[in-house]
Order: sequence, then C-alpha cells, then structure tokens
Amino acid sequence: MPSQRLDKLLASTGRWSRREVKHLIKEGRVLLNGTPAGAPEEKADPNTDSILVDGADLGWQAFTYVMMCKPAGVLSATEDRRQKTVLDLLPEELQRKNLFLTGRLDKDTEGLLLLTNDGALAHRLMLPRNHVEKTYYAKLDLPLTEEDCADFAQGITLADGSVCRPAKLELLNDGTEVFITIHEGKFHQIKRMVSTRGAAVRYLKRLSLGPLHLDEGMQPGEYRLLTPEEVAEIGGNP
Ligand code: URA
Repeated sequence: MPSQRLDKLLASTGRWSRREVKHLIKEGRVLLNGTPAGAPEEKADPNTDSILVDGADLGWQAFTYVMMCKPAGVLSATEDRRQKTVLDLLPEELQRKNLFLTGRLDKDTEGLLLLTNDGALAHRLMLPRNHVEKTYYAKLDLPLTEEDCADFAQGITLADGSVCRPAKLELLNDGTEVFITIHEGKFHQIKRMVSTRGAAVRYLKRLSLGPLHLDEGMQPGEYRLLTPEEVAEIGGNP
C-alpha cells in the first residue's frame, strides 16, 4: 500500500474523524516510528511504519468486511434522501469507512448482505461471468413441484424472454417453501423465476453468497465483522 496522509489513514480506521485526528496529532498522542507525528499531512505506510495512538498499535487492517442480515423495509443502498438504507443500521465508526454493497436485495427481501470497502473483491463478486452462487429461502403462495425442479435445472426462460442459467430448486414441506440457488443476479430474479410457474413469492431471504453463509441466529438488522478465515475464503484481504 502506498504511503498516505496520516489524518486520512487514521480516519479510515473509523475510530476518529479527521478533525479528531488533527487534535490527536497536535496533542502529540500519535507516534510515527517512535516520534510524535508533526502534522496531519505527514505521510505514512501502515504496512511498514509503526503508528501508535496513545501508545496502542493501530491494529491496521487494510479493508473492512461486514456481514449483515438485511431487514425487510430498508433499502440496499449506501445513501438515500428519503428512505432508510442498510448503512444507516451501522454505527458511526463503520459508516465512516466508505463501505459499499457487493450486490443488492429488494427492499422487501431479507438476509445476507456483504458490505466492504475492498473494491476489487466487490467487483469480483458482482462480475456476471464469475457466476457467484447465491442461495435463497422463499415462501410462496402456491406449491412448486418436482417438474419445476427439473425445469429450473435445465434453465428456465423468464417472461421477457431472457434465459436463466441452470438453477437448483429444492422443495420443502408441501412445496410452498423452497430453497433456490442461482449463479447470476438478474433484476428480481427469484420473484421472476417463481412467477413463470404461476406462483408468487410472499417472503424472501438470502442465505448465502459464494462461500459466505448468514449466521443462523442472526436477526434482521444485526451485523458483524467477518472473521479473517471468512475474508480469506471469499477472496478478500485478511
Ligand atoms: N431475487 C429477487 O427477486 N429479489 C431479491 O431481492 C433477490 C433476488
């Protein structure tokens, strides 16, 4: 990582605002390679320089990765003038980290969202040609059948004529509850796939994204940082 301005670097940890960083530096509380940092503009590289704030190591992590269970009724966006977004559900220190979404869910959909400031990873996860696997749980108004499973496995055609890649449909109970695993992300894809069967989605929740699985007990609106193992698994920078 190239050297960056000290104020930008410290603020990017989310622990302090730029203004707070300026105060810390002025008060001599930031040590750069053992000596008090002179100015906010001073350059430092967190991978090679020692940076201590009040004697504590910066614990530098290049990127932040957040697993969230998106609640229904909240927008999959980082800002919106009128409506509440998933970013509004995070504490200020995470909001300061310039996180963005690695894929969206409809406003009424719940479940797994990954927020990160690792642009390269987000790009890889969203690139259609990478066919990242996503599994959803859905409740429907009418049951689907074994025949539908076979059709989904072949690749069904949506109402607008677009053809879906082969998908896995698993029936639960009487077929009004299903798991659907897809490898692409067309607009409203699950709802549109289900509607080709004459049924409608009443509840939708994303359970997984590539190797990342939503924690079983995680309630809508809850979030946590990924573990270094999970970051490595999804191809991030632990
Ligand atoms: N498919 C949908 O129809 N909606 C979502 O939010 C995600 C996948």
